[in-house]
Amino acid sequence: MSKKRSVSPSLDIVYDLEYGVWKATALHAALELGVFTVIANGNRSRGAIAAEARCDERGMRILLDALCSLKLLRKRKGDYFLTPVSDVFLVRNKPTYYGEWCLRTQLAFDIRSRVADGIRTGRVVGIDASQSGSGSLWRSDISRALYTWPLEAKQARQMWRTLGVTRRDKPSLRVLDIACGSGVNSFVLAQADPGARVTAFDLTDVLEVTRQVAEAMGVAKQVEFQSGDVLTSDFGTDCFDVALLGKILYYFDADRALDILYRIHSALKRDGLIVISTYIGDNRSCRSQKALLAALQLFIFAPQSHVYTFSEYRDLLRRAGFSGVSRHSETLITGTK
Ligand SMILES: C[S@@+](CC[C@H](N)C(=O)[O-])C[C@H]1O[C@@H](n2cnc3c(N)ncnc32)[C@H](O)[C@@H]1O
Repeated sequence: MSKKRSVSPSLDIVYDLEYGVWKATALHAALELGVFTVIANGNRSRGAIAAEARCDERGMRILLDALCSLKLLRKRKGDYFLTPVSDVFLVRNKPTYYGEWCLRTQLAFDIRSRVADGIRTGRVVGIDASQSGSGSLWRSDISRALYTWPLEAKQARQMWRTLGVTRRDKPSLRVLDIACGSGVNSFVLAQADPGARVTAFDLTDVLEVTRQVAEAMGVAKQVEFQSGDVLTSDFGTDCFDVALLGKILYYFDADRALDILYRIHSALKRDGLIVISTYIGDNRSCRSQKALLAALQLFIFAPQSHVYTFSEYRDLLRRAGFSGVSRHSETLITGTK
């Protein structure tokens, strides 16, 4: 007779999470103290770095060594140097600086410490990033694309291939990219076809970066930049073949999302394609960690947010007048006018 062995639960999952917080803590402290900027300014020894950052030398040495273990710094003969990642993304005043976004959102520890309170009360405790006044915040996120666009472009080309949207099948496309961010996702279509035209829609501050990305990708002449609030702007009538909505609808409740979808429906030509590229909710199997953590994050940051499941998207799209709603991957949904 076989005896069932009881397995005692291990705390490994919890230890890993706690350990992850310490990695984030090191980055948070370094950004707050401007450590990467101080090193970029030519300070290399722990004494010089501590003095320039006005810090205790022992504390700084401990932080610097921890950052080396995280591959955000390199140590040689006792001196500290930036790595390619910290050099491009973590030095203040560089156009690709990502630290402001980190400090104001992902690493905003003051907000994190109030998450339980937000869940207790159902009230938002962070900055609402879906307001039209959040342009400078979003700009601090999108700026990294000035450096990362080649990699993002590769992924975007793969997305259009998955959807069968190619120059051969659909030449001279008119594309509306709503809440476009860097714009890379639609600019690859312009790169592939000189006859294609893109309307890049986002907040004014963000479009300054979008324009630079368009120039870097060699498509600026094919792009019209339109600034406005997605909640109120008119996108025109019967003028686009494709409308792309990347990671935006989940900021809004069903009424607002539906209203956006109605306006997109009007803006598309007959048989036009709507593409939704986003986290898709998974509250049945609860396996899609990115979507489920995005839901928690959005709950804390955006009062009207909802990470829609595929069936909820299908329902919204049908109500807005779209047919043939299909899911193509973990993150991609399309419908036809
Ligand atoms: C998560 S990013 C998505 C960027 C891009 N679509 C993508 O999929 O990578 C959200 C974008 O929505 C824009 N946004 C947020 N609220 C907005 C609003 N009320 N009106 C227009 N754009 C908005 C932000 O500026 C940002 O570029």
